Amino acid sequence: RIQPLILAGGAGSRLWPVSREHYPKQLIGLLGDASLLEATALRLDGWAPCASGQAEVIIVCGEDHRFMTAEQMRRLRRRAHIVLEPVGRNTAPALTLAALAAVADGQDAILVVMPADHAVADLAAFRDAVSRAAEQAEAGAIVTMGIVPSRPETGYGYIKAGTPIGDSGARVLEHFVEKPKRETAEAYLASGEYWWNSGIFIVRATIWLKAIAQFQPEMEAACRAAFEARHADGDFCRVDKTAFEACPADSIDYAVMEKLSNGTDIPAVVVPLDAGWSDVGSWDAVWDILPKDADGNVSRGRVMFEGSNSSYAHSSSRLIACVGLQDTVVIETPDAVLVANKSHVQDIKKIVGRIKAEG
Ligand code: GDD
Ligand code: MG
Repeated sequence: RIQPLILAGGAGSRLWPVSREHYPKQLIGLLGDASLLEATALRLDGWAPCASGQAEVIIVCGEDHRFMTAEQMRRLRRRAHIVLEPVGRNTAPALTLAALAAVADGQDAILVVMPADHAVADLAAFRDAVSRAAEQAEAGAIVTMGIVPSRPETGYGYIKAGTPIGDSGARVLEHFVEKPKRETAEAYLASGEYWWNSGIFIVRATIWLKAIAQFQPEMEAACRAAFEARHADGDFCRVDKTAFEACPADSIDYAVMEKLSNGTDIPAVVVPLDAGWSDVGSWDAVWDILPKDADGNVSRGRVMFEGSNSSYAHSSSRLIACVGLQDTVVIETPDAVLVANKSHVQDIKKIVGRIKAEG
């Protein structure tokens, strides 16, 4: 059976000042009324292959966000099994805890690992790609979804898609490179042979556990120890803090995906995803996804544009008036206002770092 799994950790500091440490991007309605987490939970909701077992969705998130996460699932009236991380150790340990939870639940489910910060426009196309991927995962592969790249983005993973597998659309994953240098990304884009890694993985719980034991034995041991000493607390599963603190931090991409292509006995497969996918990582992505006026401006809340184009203004209460702006992002909140050039929005995390350092 297919088990949706949501990775909902991390702070989303590039979406400051709306996204905050205690109220991070996945819990906020950045693209509309539903939060990114709610939209993710609904992505496979009511889909026949996800026959409901003990939980409709597994969510792995930081302990600090447990109440808001549970509250959002209650609001959707969805059952969720929420695994809490006492500290963040990146995505590979998060997936390992979820795989252990799935196995403890008595089923070697096919996990559909969905980051909580993606937007997917075409649900039917998404579900179709998930079923193709699930077929490969059923047969024992670690499957990722590939996106045709449109720019030399250095914040993503790149996949060289090899031989087609039958007529399923799936291809052998020949080579995986996480966050390459600019020149490498440009070469991959020009070659036409590489896809972006979407960050959505489909894998059987026991196959993931086998991979992590093979490539990251220390991580596997720490996660297992933390999970075995867990205690249930309502909807929450709390893993042992001391054991989990000792776990090395790494992402799925570096810890496992980059290592798969080199002659292991675990097959790696990529399935193309053409479903209007975006990573909602920064304000330029939010601008890109939302509908624009005739001048390419996007507004949320009380906003007036005059002689402006390709800009984004987001008001939480006060009126924002934008005159003669181009490619500018303006975000108003009660205690902070951001004004940024759209091509520099990656640097917002530097400001967040400074605010933290200066207290
Ligand atoms: N539970 C939990 N714990 N979730 C986490 C943690 C953690 O410690 N760290 C990150 N996450 C969640 C984030 O909330 C996000 O939803 C997802 O895992 C991916 O983490 P990111 O930190 O956003 O990864 P990335 O964007 O740099 O890179 C990944 O996604 C790209 C596409 O968006 C990689 O998989 C790349 O290869 C990929 O191209
Ligand atoms: Mg991301």
